[in-house]
Amino acid sequence: MSKTALIFGVTGQDGSYLTEHLLGLGYHVIGVRRRTSVPNTGRVDHLAGEPLFKLVCGDVTDAASVSHVVWQAWQDAYMEWRRSLQIRPSEGPRLEVYNLAAQSHVKASFDEPLHTTQATYLGCLNVLEAIRRLDVRQEHVRFYQASSSEMFGAAFDTRARVIEECSEGAIHWKSMSLTERERYQDESTPFLPCSPYAIAKLAAHHAVRLYRDAYGLFACSGILHNHESERRGEEFVTRKITKYVARWARDKSIEPLRLGNLNASRDWGHAEDYVRAMHLMLQQEKGDDFVICTGETHTVREFLLAAFKAAGSEAENVESLPVVIDSSLYRPSEVPYLRGDCSKAKRVLGWKPEVPFEELVRRMVYSDMRATDRG
Ligand SMILES: NC(=O)c1ccc[n+]([C@@H]2O[C@H](COP(=O)([O-])OP(=O)(O)OC[C@H]3O[C@@H](n4cnc5c(N)ncnc54)[C@H](OP(=O)(O)O)[C@@H]3O)[C@@H](O)[C@H]2O)c1
Repeated sequence: MSKTALIFGVTGQDGSYLTEHLLGLGYHVIGVRRRTSVPNTGRVDHLAGEPLFKLVCGDVTDAASVSHVVWQAWQDAYMEWRRSLQIRPSEGPRLEVYNLAAQSHVKASFDEPLHTTQATYLGCLNVLEAIRRLDVRQEHVRFYQASSSEMFGAAFDTRARVIEECSEGAIHWKSMSLTERERYQDESTPFLPCSPYAIAKLAAHHAVRLYRDAYGLFACSGILHNHESERRGEEFVTRKITKYVARWARDKSIEPLRLGNLNASRDWGHAEDYVRAMHLMLQQEKGDDFVICTGETHTVREFLLAAFKAAGSEAENVESLPVVIDSSLYRPSEVPYLRGDCSKAKRVLGWKPEVPFEELVRRMVYSDMRATDRG
C-alpha cells in the first residue's frame, strides 16, 4: 500500500526521529513547520534532498492553514496511490496524520497558559476538524495525537499521602505509602493534571476520544512518558544537565549548574524508541490509546549522577558536585512521581523500549561532549 504521512511538529525532537523512521519504511513524508524569524529546521536539515520528504508551512493554531495543509496532503496521498496502482494493486490511499505540535515545556506553560492552550489543545482540535471535514472513509486517514503522562499529574497523591518537607528550597518525600502496583500509571489510571500544559493535553486527549466515538475517526492517543535524546530541547532539565556536564568535563572551573527539584521521579526512555510506537498504533485494526514508557522510574538526582558518571566523575552524591538548588526553578505545582506500565502496548503493538536509562544518559552526554569540542 502506498502511504503518505503528514507530521505537525516535524521540527521538534520526536518529529525529526519520526520522519527518519517513516522514510526508512518507504513513506512519503510531508512535514509541517511554522514560520519563524530564525530557522527552526535544524533537526531535519540533514533530510533536505530526500526525494520522499518535503516541508510545508503551517501553524496548528490557524484553522485555515491546518485545513489547507490536511486537504493538500490528502490530495498528495490520493495521487500517490493512483501512481502506485500502475505498479501494484492497492487497497486504497492512506494518509497518516501525526500531531506532535505543542508548546511542550511544562514550566513555560505556567508563564504562557493561553498560548499553551491554543497550540496544545486548540491545535489538536483544528487537525481533528480538518480530518473530519475531508469526509473520507476511516481506513484511509488515520490520526495520532501526542498525549502525555503529565496528564496523570498528581494522580498518586489522591491515593496515598506524600509528606513533603521543605528545607532551603529542597523537597524531600519522607514517605510514600503506596503499594508497588499503585506506583504505575496505565490506561485506566485517573488523570489529575497539575499544569496548564497537562490540562491542555488532557483536553486534546478527550477530543481525540470524542472524534473517535462520535464521528468514527481512526484516532489514537499515545500517552507517552518522558522521552529524551541527543536532540532534546536545551531548556528541558535532562538536556540542561548533559550540556552542562559536557562543558564541565572540559573545564572544571565553570560556574555551578542551577537546578530546581531534584526529587521528581520520571520514567525516561529514548525518543527513537517511542516514535516506533506512534507508527505501530496507526497500523492496528482500530484506533485506541496506549501508554508508552519503560516501566522504570529515576529521580532527577539519579539522572544528574549518571550524567556526571558518564563524564568520568566518581561522585556518589549530589553534594560533592558543582550543583546549586535554585528554588526559583521549581514549578508552582510539581508532579512528584511518574512511572508507566506499557503492558498493553507490549501485548497489542508488540512494542518494547530498547534503550536503557544509563545508555540514554551516556548517549546524551557524549553527543553534547562532541558538540562542545566542535565549539
Ligand atoms: N518529549 C517528551 O518527553 C514528551 C512526552 C509526552 C508527550 N510529548 C509531546 O509529544 C510532542 C513531541 O514532543 P517533542 O519532545 O518532540 O517536543 P518539541 O521538541 O518541543 O517539539 C514541538 C514541536 O511543535 C511545534 N509547534 C509548536 N507550536 C506550534 C504551532 N503553533 N504550529 C505548528 N507547530 C508548532 C514546534 O515547532 P518549533 O520547532 O517551531 O518550535 C516543534 O516542532 C509534543 O506535543 C509534546 O508535548 C513529549
